[in-house]
Amino acid sequence: MTEIIVSGMRPTGRLHLGHYHGVLKSWLRLQDEAECYFFIADWHALTTHYETTQGIREAVWDMLIEWLAVGVDPDKAVLFIQSHVPQHAELALLLGMLTPLSWLERVPTFKDQQEKLRERDLTTFGFLGYPLLMTADILLYGAHKVPVGADQVAHLEISRELARRFNSFYGRDAGAAAQVEKGLQALGKRAAKTFSALQRRFQQDGDALAVAEAVEFLGQQAGLSAGMREQLLAQLEGKGREILREPQVLLTAASKMPGLDGQKMSKSYGNTIPLREAPEMVQKKIRTMPTDPARVARTDPGTPEKCPVWALHQIYSGPETQSWVRGGCTTANIGCLDCKQPLIEAVLAEQAPIRERAEYWAARPEQLQEIVHGGAQRARQRAEQTLERVRAAMGLTHEQRDF
Ligand code: TRP
Ligand code: SF4
Repeated sequence: MTEIIVSGMRPTGRLHLGHYHGVLKSWLRLQDEAECYFFIADWHALTTHYETTQGIREAVWDMLIEWLAVGVDPDKAVLFIQSHVPQHAELALLLGMLTPLSWLERVPTFKDQQEKLRERDLTTFGFLGYPLLMTADILLYGAHKVPVGADQVAHLEISRELARRFNSFYGRDAGAAAQVEKGLQALGKRAAKTFSALQRRFQQDGDALAVAEAVEFLGQQAGLSAGMREQLLAQLEGKGREILREPQVLLTAASKMPGLDGQKMSKSYGNTIPLREAPEMVQKKIRTMPTDPARVARTDPGTPEKCPVWALHQIYSGPETQSWVRGGCTTANIGCLDCKQPLIEAVLAEQAPIRERAEYWAARPEQLQEIVHGGAQRARQRAEQTLERVRAAMGLTHEQRDF
């Protein structure tokens, strides 16, 4: 079976080379191997940018243009805009019913971002629910894997826990539920209490010994049939039929892409080269990059490892150029501007076809619209299948009174 991959990006600004060398390149590989759903997370952008939405409107189309320009292919992957698929909202609402507040409050990004983005009021329901909406995005398509950066791992942990919690609540068929019911009755009040204490120890405190104790305890209860015993144990362990798949994290190499100052390339550090940066700006930015501070004068030798330019050579230059840099730097045979020149050329060469394709797409708004409409249609179909199972498992079909 082909794997299902889901990933989204928030439209809050232009993409840069860090996105390209990190997450986008991994998408390009994945779209050839797996069933991919890539979407523009405009609702997620709203969680922080709800006061002024004009920026989101623009960024949505810029993002689509840039995806297409780097080679994300609507014939290979399903590309869509999150808000075009209302099923994301319905699943988020339903999952919200079983999401403990504490799970959301303890996500590190929740407090961090509130601190960092002080100019915005992020004490909102929507912002608290960010990981919940993200969970709906992922579980809706039955994703096996989710390519994200390290900053998203805590969110994925919630997605996994919520899938498990959902399955343990609703993943049992009526027969199994009836066996549990009968089993509890057969146990009687006192023994049922002991049983639920053991269940709490296992499910809430993660105490694995509680399972062994429960096996022994249930084995001693005379009035239980084998079926009841089995279902009570399954209940204790939170085992259920898998209705929602637990997704795995697929860490992208985003963190390896250095910015202009040697730190990770990120908009919040102001050290980026945008994907569609004008060539003059690329040149200017690289020319003014800091270098090894030991090279005060042209005649002072340097150490490439102490230089952010070197870090970029690792990405953009082959072994020959790299050994030219190392030799020239450590002996002061080349100046820093000499050293930067092949880098400038490599970045420009990488960007030229991307820029050209971006211009192509930017001039074709109707085709862009067709792409996301087609994508949303395919996404809705897949999402609706999951939701039908979810509604049924939660008892929300209400077709007729059948109990
Ligand atoms: N939170 C992700 C980010 O900021 C964006 C996102 C939203 C996402 N929904 C998702 C990523 C679902 C992967 C899967 O990068
Ligand atoms: Fe950095 Fe290159 Fe200058 Fe050495 S020569 S300090 S690697 S820019």
